Amino acid sequence: MSLVPSGAGGTQRRPRSLWLGLALTVVGLLGLVLVATFAGGTSPGVSVVPFIGSGSQTFSSLGERIFLSSTDANGNVIPRSVPSMYGMMFSQSGCASCHGRDGRGGTVSAMMGSFVTPDIRWSTLTATQDPSGQPQTPFTEASLARALRDGIDPEGDRVNAPMPQWRLTDAEVAALVAYLKSLP
Ligand code: HEC
Repeated sequence: MSLVPSGAGGTQRRPRSLWLGLALTVVGLLGLVLVATFAGGTSPGVSVVPFIGSGSQTFSSLGERIFLSSTDANGNVIPRSVPSMYGMMFSQSGCASCHGRDGRGGTVSAMMGSFVTPDIRWSTLTATQDPSGQPQTPFTEASLARALRDGIDPEGDRVNAPMPQWRLTDAEVAALVAYLKSLP
């Protein structure tokens, strides 16, 4: 008689562990998708690599540090707001994650779809024509600071998501400008 409850318990436990196994498989697959998204699938020039835990990395300048890892001189992640659903994904990434290590921009694939980023080398930002040959108001250090902090470009237009708005000090903006100038 006592076999009945234990038998029932046994048949109940088995499907439960099956479900657990299935759930773990799904989580594992999602992890793979995430890794694949970060590892590849971007256009030439842009590597979507989150430089998370970059405190151990060494950088040759503050500008390079911010560009690659978006951490300040003390290794703390620079606060920014990323409107939209890209926020979580890019909450720790440096400029390079979206504009490429070479700063030339490109197509970035993210889980929720791809987006295009502009060339942000200093020579391009300060030219009187944009890369497509249209006249543009050249950036200055002050207008770059405004674009980065407030999301307004030199023409008074919005710099749209997923470009974040960054809480950067004047010294950090200056360091970034020096780094953008160094990009060939
Ligand atoms: C999550 C991706 C992402 C990150 C990270 C990011 N950007 Fe952007 N950025 C963009 C996108 C997308 C645009 C284009 C926005 C638009 O077209 O309105 C942009 C636009 C810009 C522009 C305006 C260029 C122009 O010609 O008007 C500048 C300057 C810029 N980014 C600099 C930076 C710097 C410096 C950093 C690092 C501190 C950075 N971005 C980090 C995605 C990103």
